Parts: sequence; C-alpha cells; structure tokens
Amino acid sequence: MAAPALEAQSLTLSWGDFAVAEGVSVHVDEGELACIVGRSGCGKTTLFHALAGLEKPAGGRVLLRGEDITGVPGRVSYMLQKDLLLPSRSILDNAALPLIVRGVDRDAARAKAGALFATFGLEGTEGLWPSQLSGGMRQRAALLRTYLMDNDVVLLDEPFSALDAITRVELRRWFAGMVRELGLSALVITHDVDEAIDLGSRIYVFDGMPRKGIVSRIVGEVDVRSAGADAARTTLMGLLGIA
Ligand SMILES: Nc1ncnc2c1ncn2[C@@H]1O[C@H](COP(=O)(O)OP(=O)(O)O)[C@@H](O)[C@H]1O
Ligand SMILES: [Mg+2]
Repeated sequence: MAAPALEAQSLTLSWGDFAVAEGVSVHVDEGELACIVGRSGCGKTTLFHALAGLEKPAGGRVLLRGEDITGVPGRVSYMLQKDLLLPSRSILDNAALPLIVRGVDRDAARAKAGALFATFGLEGTEGLWPSQLSGGMRQRAALLRTYLMDNDVVLLDEPFSALDAITRVELRRWFAGMVRELGLSALVITHDVDEAIDLGSRIYVFDGMPRKGIVSRIVGEVDVRSAGADAARTTLMGLLGIA
C-alpha cells in the first residue's frame, strides 16, 4: 500500500464559535489524485485552508509525510477557489510570482517559469495580459503558478468551476495527466460529482449544513477504480442524499 503524502487526522473546523466540521480525516497517497466532494457551504474551503496551513484548525493535525505541519503555511502547493491572475502583470510574471515571493531573482524566476510554458500548453502567451487569454488558458497559467510553489503535494479548491463545460472536461483530463507526468500527489476539492469521478481515483464525501446547525463530516469514501464510474456515481449520490 502506498504511504500517505498528506494526511489530516480528525480535524475540527470552526470560525470562532461557529462550528463547521468535525472528525475530518482524509489523506492523499503518494502519486494519487484524490477528491473531496461536498455541497456548497459545507465547509470545503474552510477545510482547504486548514490543509494548506492558512488557518489553524480548532482540533486535529495535518501531517506531511508524517511531519506535523498543522497551521504551517507554504509546505504544500495550493490554488485557492478565487485564484485570480494579477491583471497588470504578464502571464510570465504571474507564473513566476511564487518564485519571486520566495526571493528568487526576477530573471531566474522568469527563466524557470518560462521553461515550463510548453509543458503547460501556454507557449506564446508569455508576454500577454491575463485579459487576453481564454478562461481555460488563464486556469493553466494559475496551475503553473501553483506548480511553481514547488511542493509535490498540490491542493486545489474548485479549480475548474468557473469554466464552460467543454473546457472544464478538457482541462481536468489534462490536469490528471500532468499529475501523473510531474509525479504530484493531488487533492482536489469540488462540489461537482462528475468532476470528482472523472478526476479522482478515490473520493471522499464531505457533508453537512453548518448554517443550519448540522456540523459537516466525512460521510463516506468511494474507490472509483474498484467500483467503476457508474457504481461510484450511484454511491456518491446516495451519500449526498440526492435521489
Ligand atoms: N471567514 C469566515 N468567517 C465566518 N464564517 C465563514 C467564513 N468563511 C466561511 N464561513 C462559513 O463557513 C461555512 C463553510 O464555508 P466554506 O468553507 O466556504 O464552504 P464551501 O467552500 O464548501 O462552499 C459557511 O457557512 C460559511 O458561511
Ligand atoms: Mg468553497
């Protein structure tokens, strides 16, 4: 069995007194692409922030290859739900940003980012502004920027939601290929059941309605490879209470 690259153990999530989730234990194995699916408002982004170390959970631990990184940012690469490119910087400078933030010299950062443009299907866009790119290309640029955060564990919060249906399918398949090619371990958070099935080898179902006093939990887990897509879909819909 593969070892977990990233593991959350029994996280309790809250905003002040407002309880969002409890007992959240999820992991992503080395080289795996796992998904967490849940309805809007159940606490996906809140969980994501805890996994990325952007907020300290009220309880539980986050382990990176066994090391406690609870509340420590910068140890995994992540792409926020609203990860917009800076409008007044070129695509190349947007992509190079995480390197520059880490103190890499601007020319070296540009060279390193530029060398990956072809891999990310972005060749020829280096000098363009974000507004000159299609939604799919902008998302590729945001994914390249995430990759340049330079950790091989990658967390994505609803990365394809803003795209039209065709671009979304194309981009997520491309992304799954990139995870394999680059040897990443990825955890994708989404509200889209079909997206989770298309992307993930394993899917967690995160459910609850914290605003109605129903604290969210992981209510099930589906192994898509052994179940097959159709059975996985039926199980997921059942777990989410969708007939
Ligand atoms: N900064 C915040 N302060 C207080 N409550 C928040 C904050 N962010 C989110 N929430 C609340 O936490 C719950 C979960 O939100 P969120 O994690 O964004 O859900 P999801 O990403 O699944 O749509 C919601 O009820 C939301 O209103
Ligand atoms: Mg969210």
